[in-house]
Amino acid sequence: MVARSKFQELLAATRQPPKEVTIRVKRYDPETGKVWYQDYKVKTFRGMTILDALLQIKEKIDHTIVMRYSCRMGVCGSCGVVVNKKPSLACQTQIAAVASEDKPIVVVEPLYNFPIIRDLVADFGDFFNKHRAIKPYIIRKDPDEVEKGEREFIMDPHDLHEIYEYSLCIMCGLCYSACPVSAGDPLYLGPQALAQAYRFIADVRDEGYEERIKIVDTEHGCHRCHFAATCSAVCPKMVDPASAIQRLRKIVFMKTLGFWKKKKITQIAGPLKEPLRQIEAKYAVENILEGVDPEEQAKREEKIDLEL
Ligand code: SF4
Ligand code: SF4
Ligand code: FES
Repeated sequence: MVARSKFQELLAATRQPPKEVTIRVKRYDPETGKVWYQDYKVKTFRGMTILDALLQIKEKIDHTIVMRYSCRMGVCGSCGVVVNKKPSLACQTQIAAVASEDKPIVVVEPLYNFPIIRDLVADFGDFFNKHRAIKPYIIRKDPDEVEKGEREFIMDPHDLHEIYEYSLCIMCGLCYSACPVSAGDPLYLGPQALAQAYRFIADVRDEGYEERIKIVDTEHGCHRCHFAATCSAVCPKMVDPASAIQRLRKIVFMKTLGFWKKKKITQIAGPLKEPLRQIEAKYAVENILEGVDPEEQAKREEKIDLEL
């Protein structure tokens, strides 16, 4: 694992990249089962990312290369690959941070610990199933409280602070790809799902913690983690799954001894005078463009013509 601090990465990204780099891509053809590394020479520009380089290859050199991406801004979590042995977001990793005039070769591989569909595209089916298994949503004993939307859960800012960091996860899978336990135990829930289990168990609005603790307090749950923290080292959103797992283990341990008491929400307000879904969004005056009547805009039928 290449250890680079976020600060070092930012510093490197201010540099000019080498004029030309070789992108060495690990390819996989599922039809023939063939795996090979293929070199592509790419002309760079200042600020060029790994995703820019891959798109340039696809556009100008080899249209058969396959990768996944969407937002190009570190939000959707779909462009995860391994760059010079480090799981990284292709759209956030600058060429200047991973290559130099002395070493103008960048090795790009698909995420480790995932089945591969083709070239750089990993199969996230199992990863999403593990996320789904920990019930990543607020559970209330009275489901009507959530379904009817007539009440408001008022959360203390300190309680929000407790889980905020973990709610920033974009499900990119980099932590899972870096985890040595996930590499050896395919049934291990993994850092992403376990961090989210903690995020919901620690959420004062949630009452589903008993169900979730049963899921994580297993052979393939939080006790398998040996706190190498490589998951946290690669997380692009600074989520720190390793710390979440340690907190989760503490909760499980204390609960087993009968010392853990779930913190409850400060206040449930309501019932509201009118259900939330009937409250119309009011336009913020400062956002209205000159000459635009928001009432008229709201009445207009949205129509998009597509020439197919
Ligand atoms: S915890 Fe971080 S690395 Fe893991 S899936 Fe979420 S955002 Fe990605
Ligand atoms: S801290 Fe736990 S979950 Fe994170 S990489 Fe290490 S073993 Fe995996
Ligand atoms: S393309 Fe969305 S995170 Fe990279």
